[in-house]
Amino acid sequence: MSKDSKHTLTPIPKPNKAVQTLSPYDPANTRDASLRKTYPVPLKLDWNESTRPPSPNVVQAIRNHLSKNHLNLYPDIAVKRLRMAISRYTGLGADHILVTNGSDSALELIVRTFMDPGSVVGVPVPTYSHFVVFSRGAGLQIREIMYQDPFQVDWNALRAALNDGVSMLYLPSPSNPTGIVYHGELVKRMARRFENVIFLLDEAYFEFSGTTCAHLVDTYPNIIVTRTFSKAFGMAGLRVGYVLAHPEVVATLSKLHNPKSVASLNQAAAVGALEDVEYMSTYVKRVRAAREWTVDQLLKMGIDARTTHANYILFHVDNPHDFVRGLHDLNCFVRDRSSMPGMDGWIRVTVGTMDDMRQFVNRVAVVLSGTRQSIRPSMNAYPNKPDLI
Ligand SMILES: Cc1ncc(COP(=O)(O)O)c(C=O)c1O
Repeated sequence: MSKDSKHTLTPIPKPNKAVQTLSPYDPANTRDASLRKTYPVPLKLDWNESTRPPSPNVVQAIRNHLSKNHLNLYPDIAVKRLRMAISRYTGLGADHILVTNGSDSALELIVRTFMDPGSVVGVPVPTYSHFVVFSRGAGLQIREIMYQDPFQVDWNALRAALNDGVSMLYLPSPSNPTGIVYHGELVKRMARRFENVIFLLDEAYFEFSGTTCAHLVDTYPNIIVTRTFSKAFGMAGLRVGYVLAHPEVVATLSKLHNPKSVASLNQAAAVGALEDVEYMSTYVKRVRAAREWTVDQLLKMGIDARTTHANYILFHVDNPHDFVRGLHDLNCFVRDRSSMPGMDGWIRVTVGTMDDMRQFVNRVAVVLSGTRQSIRPSMNAYPNKPDLI
């Protein structure tokens, strides 16, 4: 609390009951540290962002938009060009698409549109924690679903929750952090059997897995898919996401959605990205290769490691807190997930290109051996200015 806030003349406003259940916001972020020109060169591998900038098309599209200087006007509220581009990319009609300010906003919109306060959302844990925040903030009850093995889909646990009054099931696929993927056959079976439940498939990492439920939304309107430009397309800073759903579901979401919420620059940038899908696919191929290589290297070092279908892997150590701190001291930022249910000892690492991962493995070796001196300069030849892929 600042000194001045003790002297307010009226009380500090209290949030509503739902928001009172939330933990204080923790703004800790390694972004600034990762942008500093320090030695060794920072490796930001904690938020599953792309480690490379987006296609040059994206920057060009922003420049073109700026050169027209229409910034005094609100964005195209129908998001016509971008919805057409997403339609070509996904193969679904433009009436199946709603563009949002990042996919986080899509998740929140879906929860607020379809769920009444007090209703129950099923969430296999561990999970993407922001979804839980949105749901609690909307006054929902969270039914945590524990799988026998957190790395394997557990149909019995899902069925028990579905039979137990759950109105929505949140399925990140691939799941963050476990990497579990929910295949269309299973989702279709559940959607048919539990027709009053909404199955929310968060496909933020779809481009890395290649597995989707988007083709099901026409036949099963209770399946809703969200996607993002933040991961494989490398545009986390621009905030563009979208919903793929039955046209009537899109029409319902549009009642609450603020159509001005996707900035015109962001719309133009995403169109630019979709005009160069090849660039994104090349990055995805590189990440997949580096992912398997990294797991292999960790296993060779005697560290238990798991691959996923996304742009991150997990590794297991006895002292995750110290290990993360050791890497942090070497300017390598990863995410300790060991306090999540079933994740004792597990650390999550974003996978970038081979250049990034060679350095990551080198720094892991340093932490393992407990000596800083063993960073080999040749392993640190990564340019300060990030290259395109
Ligand atoms: C599973 C999952 N969903 C959604 C998001 C947020 O994506 P966006 O940047 O589109 O809001 C993330 C980000 O890490 C995520 O891991």
